[in-house]
Amino acid sequence: MIEGIRVEPVGPLSGAINLVGAKNAILVTMAATLLTSGKSVITNVPVSSDVLYMIKLLESLGAQIAFDRELKKLEIDTSAIVGHQVDPEIMRKMRASILVVGPLLARFGCADVVFPGGCTIGARPVDIHLKAFKTMGVDFHSIDEVLQARTPALRAQRIVLEYPSVGATENILMAATLTPGTTTIVHAALEPEVLDVIRVLKKMGAQIDIEPPATIVINGVSVLNPVVHEVIVDRLEAGSLLLATALTGGELVIPNARAFDLDVFLAKLQEMGHTIETGAQGIGIRLIATKRPHAVSFKTGPYPGFPTDLQAPMVVAQCLASGVCDVYETVFENRFLHVRELQKMGAQIKFIFGDKIQVKGVEALYGTHVIASDIRASCALVLAGLVAQGKTVMTGVHHWRRGYDMLDQKLAWLGARIVIGPVEQLSFTSKEREIMI
Ligand code: EPZ
Repeated sequence: MIEGIRVEPVGPLSGAINLVGAKNAILVTMAATLLTSGKSVITNVPVSSDVLYMIKLLESLGAQIAFDRELKKLEIDTSAIVGHQVDPEIMRKMRASILVVGPLLARFGCADVVFPGGCTIGARPVDIHLKAFKTMGVDFHSIDEVLQARTPALRAQRIVLEYPSVGATENILMAATLTPGTTTIVHAALEPEVLDVIRVLKKMGAQIDIEPPATIVINGVSVLNPVVHEVIVDRLEAGSLLLATALTGGELVIPNARAFDLDVFLAKLQEMGHTIETGAQGIGIRLIATKRPHAVSFKTGPYPGFPTDLQAPMVVAQCLASGVCDVYETVFENRFLHVRELQKMGAQIKFIFGDKIQVKGVEALYGTHVIASDIRASCALVLAGLVAQGKTVMTGVHHWRRGYDMLDQKLAWLGARIVIGPVEQLSFTSKEREIMI
């Protein structure tokens, strides 16, 4: 049975809604629990398939996990971690599985992994992770497709990242917390999700400081304790909801949003003509959409630049804005897979270079069958369906389920006409096919 999401055009989405915990914070926080022996409790956990994959991965290493989906509460007991062989099946599904390597090396001195899978938005190598671990005294041997990492003892080092990789920063950071001496990570990623796992590690007893310029200093300790932590809210869910409201000309309040995680993104929405208000201390965002948005160019980059994970949905907003804009994707080399699908819907987009597109605003998009290629492309195509004429059916729903916790239900709550189900029950009548591009 192939699942699809059917979206139909609606009027303005309006209302108030809160965010769930951030996928890209919870996954690394779950990996961090491997650094301790005992029961950790994590709340505000999104119910997405990536979280379920990470649960399976930790259980395959011996963790005992209880996940109360209603309460969005995870209890992870890592007292009986016995293994260091990471389930290849799960590693191939999810990029974040690489994040257990640092904790396993720190705790046991060994980890057997395969190269991680995940969204096909680029080659997504792990060379920065491996180079750093080698300088910390880790030897790697590949047997068949398994990469065996071994170290008699990790060594504290000064590590300068050639690129502020989020995953590499998190992996090295976690390994360093139990490594005697001072490890320094220069040119580190400092995304909100990285800062959240630093909060988690410090709660566990780690000694971590952040110094300019983008440097994380870790003084290793001998033991880390279990943690109780509430995951930060998902800035990417916030961006998706704000863009859905902007596209449909509505008004939205997100009381628990952290506006300071989205400065550049919010500034771009204001440049388009939308009204953005933020609450005291930057908690809470209100958007009042303009009826005449104009196109704005933007360029993705490491935090605090424009988030690459909001590039695809933001391109949709440009498709229906007046004027022409350039979108420059600097983080991943293959993150325009949604463009072909949007062109099928009538979007006027052309490639300038492999990493730059030009979008010319059109009067309308048209519903058709589109295919999601990655998590954020799935969001872009659902948003496009909210404003396209006629029905849009999107397949590749597993990407949507990987990255979002009931976002379709939240959009429906705000007024969207959106259902998930078997494609044959969602697809088009013969009449509708006639009008399809
Ligand atoms: C994290 O991926 C996020 N995933 C991504 O979100 C996010 O897009 C990305 O950071 C950038 O913000 C999680 O946190 C689980 P990187 P990560 O290492 O760690 C290159 C989503 O949709 N690179 O910062 O894999 C890499 O190829 C996902 O939620 C190397 O060359 O991102 C990319 O071009 C998608 N060698 C760039 O760096 C390495 O060893 C940024 O990657 C590592 C990375």
